[in-house]
Amino acid sequence: MRSLGYRIVDQIIEHFETLASKPVMRVSPRVELEAELREPLPEEPTPVDALLDQLRRVVWPNIGNVQHPRFFAFIPSPSNFVSVMADALAAGFNPFAGNWLEGSGPAQIELVVIDWLREMCGLPETAGGLFVSGGSMANLTALAAARRARLGDRSDDAVIYYSDQTHNSIEKALRVLGFAREQIRMLPSDEDFRLPVESLRRAVAEDRADGKRPFCVIANAGTTNTGAVDPLDQLADFCERENLWLHVDGAYGAAACLSERGRRLLVGIERADSLSIDPHKWLFQPFEIGCVIARDARLLKNTFHTMAGYLEDTKRVEEEEINYYDYGVQLTRGFRALKLWLSIKTFGAAAFREAINRGFEMAEFAEEMLRQPDRWRIISPATFGIVTFRYVAEGCSENEINEIHRRMVEMMTEDGFAFANSTVLRGQTVMRLCTINPRTTEDDVRATIKRLEQFGRDLQDRIKIR
Ligand SMILES: Cc1ncc(COP(=O)(O)O)c(C=O)c1O
Repeated sequence: MRSLGYRIVDQIIEHFETLASKPVMRVSPRVELEAELREPLPEEPTPVDALLDQLRRVVWPNIGNVQHPRFFAFIPSPSNFVSVMADALAAGFNPFAGNWLEGSGPAQIELVVIDWLREMCGLPETAGGLFVSGGSMANLTALAAARRARLGDRSDDAVIYYSDQTHNSIEKALRVLGFAREQIRMLPSDEDFRLPVESLRRAVAEDRADGKRPFCVIANAGTTNTGAVDPLDQLADFCERENLWLHVDGAYGAAACLSERGRRLLVGIERADSLSIDPHKWLFQPFEIGCVIARDARLLKNTFHTMAGYLEDTKRVEEEEINYYDYGVQLTRGFRALKLWLSIKTFGAAAFREAINRGFEMAEFAEEMLRQPDRWRIISPATFGIVTFRYVAEGCSENEINEIHRRMVEMMTEDGFAFANSTVLRGQTVMRLCTINPRTTEDDVRATIKRLEQFGRDLQDRIKIR
């Protein structure tokens, strides 16, 4: 056991140490991976060394290294070694974090860490929540609580409002919860990709006039596309007046509340009825750790509490001795809180704050670079660590420029030096950098933009020849 453990730790450390010089990503065709890995259920044992070698040869090279300093795509997950070890500890001790009886120690840690996040976002002491797998599950859990609290078991005619920049996990959650397409009002965002309060007001008024039941507004605290933050304070005023549930999807951006700058930009977040926040994004944790907080924690319990004979022994003096199985979908759940606790305690919140600020600054640095040559047009300026931009290609049609961006992503995938993704904003394909990895240097950003420019020029030349 010990030598296996040491070998695995060595591999992880080597990965952390050499990551910056490795390809950001590599994708192998299915046929190749089938040839390497397909086999019938193995009846006989295999020496674990051979298996570690197989992983090293076939599996680990075939990933997008989301914690690589030049991984700028989607939302990077720049984790830290302490949290990685915490996950190993959690797996080793394997506590059942679903109830107090089997996991009072882990539950107390979870209570403390959830409370740190609650306080960081300015929610009142009545608020509480739990760790879940990620933002999608956090959004689903929050919306289940909203539906239960506001609609009981009758959700027909209820209407939900959000902007066209809202993460697709919301649509998925609403589908799972049984809302029909007609119950969703996806409103066009304004020029800064924010939900316009005025269009929301009109939509709600129209729906009320039609006899429908407006029920919930979903606001973004940092959209995935551009980092845009909806006008949280105004939306909270509106929801209060109209008696609507306000869910804030801060899966990406709410972590920035830890920094003064982020907290200022997120004024109003403290007024949410429910909030999603993902430590596996901007709080530097390995997957999977998301968090959902409800302003009134009892509403989560009202939504998820059920009982069974085989659980009678686990009943506790609620709220003091919490059974987390009452607050979300999972009964059996792992000790997710440990990694966040251990890393915050080890490094201190100040280090996290500094790392978050660096994410803001690095996107600003990228924007500054992109503004220098006339190769790029900024589509959305650096906002919460995200900048989007479009290649300027004289003589190419809009469609051809869209194609250039898609091909740039393919070229980055093949090249392996850096990875960013494209997205579609107002019908135009644009490039996007998300710079929240505190290990990303200015040289990384500079070299990535230079390479994108080179790809752009090559692609433009090819189009002209065609
Ligand atoms: C704003 C936002 N909400 C929700 C999610 C979904 O989170 P997860 O992928 O952890 O389920 C994401 C993921 O990128 C996100 O950026």
